[in-house]
Amino acid sequence: MSSNEFKISVLAGDGIGPEVMLEALRVLDSASNKYNFKLRLDHQLVGGIAIDQKSHPLPEETLNSCETSDAILFGSVGGPKWETLPPDEQPERGALLPLRKHFGLFANLRPSVCFPSLTGASPIRTDIIEGGFDVLCVRELTGGIYFGEPKSINQTTDGRIAIDTMIYNESEIDRIARVAFNAARGRSKKLTSIDKANVLRNGILWREIVENVSKDFPDVELDHLYVDNAAMQLIRRPKEFDVLLAPNLFGDILSDEMAMIAGSLGMLASASLGQSKGNGLYFGMYEPSGGSAPDIAGKGIANPCAQILSASLMLRYSLGLTDAADSIDNAVRSAIDKGYRTGDIFSSDADTKQVNTVEMSDAIIDNII
Ligand code: IPM
Ligand code: MN
Repeated sequence: MSSNEFKISVLAGDGIGPEVMLEALRVLDSASNKYNFKLRLDHQLVGGIAIDQKSHPLPEETLNSCETSDAILFGSVGGPKWETLPPDEQPERGALLPLRKHFGLFANLRPSVCFPSLTGASPIRTDIIEGGFDVLCVRELTGGIYFGEPKSINQTTDGRIAIDTMIYNESEIDRIARVAFNAARGRSKKLTSIDKANVLRNGILWREIVENVSKDFPDVELDHLYVDNAAMQLIRRPKEFDVLLAPNLFGDILSDEMAMIAGSLGMLASASLGQSKGNGLYFGMYEPSGGSAPDIAGKGIANPCAQILSASLMLRYSLGLTDAADSIDNAVRSAIDKGYRTGDIFSSDADTKQVNTVEMSDAIIDNII
């Protein structure tokens, strides 16, 4: 393969996944013509549709494809149809979590950007978010209570008990903290680490290791918040945060909160990265932070921005195509600034135009320069 040609595993999945994926691929196609790179797309089944067609949420062909790719572009998985299957066979536990674990994608970056022109879409009071904000949530993704053993539901003489185990070792905390400190270094040099050190042993260790790592980053200002307080402060003063560092479960929760404060889950992209390849690039999986949204699937009204911005993160972190990534980010912003809004970010008071999934993407493609 020539140096500007890349193989991408495209895993559209369920619900709105295929609809928004189609739009992200159109945007990538436009960017590839303008910025002279070539993507070889390998479409593979994942999630509920893979259960239906291949009897497994993560078929071997899909995993093989990902293993020989430069990056994975992921849509979303899950839906009511598969919710009654045994837990480990459901799309989320059977495909998404194993993909993260298999490829060691421990660093989940979730940029939550509220454009100044989109503050009307936020449920937060305008005076609090006036001018917009830009917060990056760095979520640990392959450890903590999501993966800790033992994990079970067992019958006892007192009825059933459910067990989940929160485990972090020092090196897991150290490596995600370094990702967060490095990210903060490239931004406004402020890092807020989230834990529950007043109750959990995990929080005590988390705080200690993050403090240790901070000695290597004296230029980054570090503070710590308990997760409950963080949930409150993010709503009270979102503009004062820059980078958040959180364990898996807390990052899951706070990134949804941040997305909603910014306007909609439909705007929130994410990059899940493994160890750096040494050249500043990473193998990664790129997906919207929202789910498969079965309630609006098939209606053509989903917001494609999160999937499109995820594709841009892929160009940036896995392919090193910074100019093309900047161009896509700017195009999304221009389309929003020009008033194009899908239903989830539409507010009738501003000078805006409500559009569907395809029209939103058309507006973005028109602005790729
Ligand atoms: C996310 C999702 C997943 C998670 C679910 C679908 C397993 O909510 O990516 O935030 O909890 O990590
Ligand atoms: Mn989540």
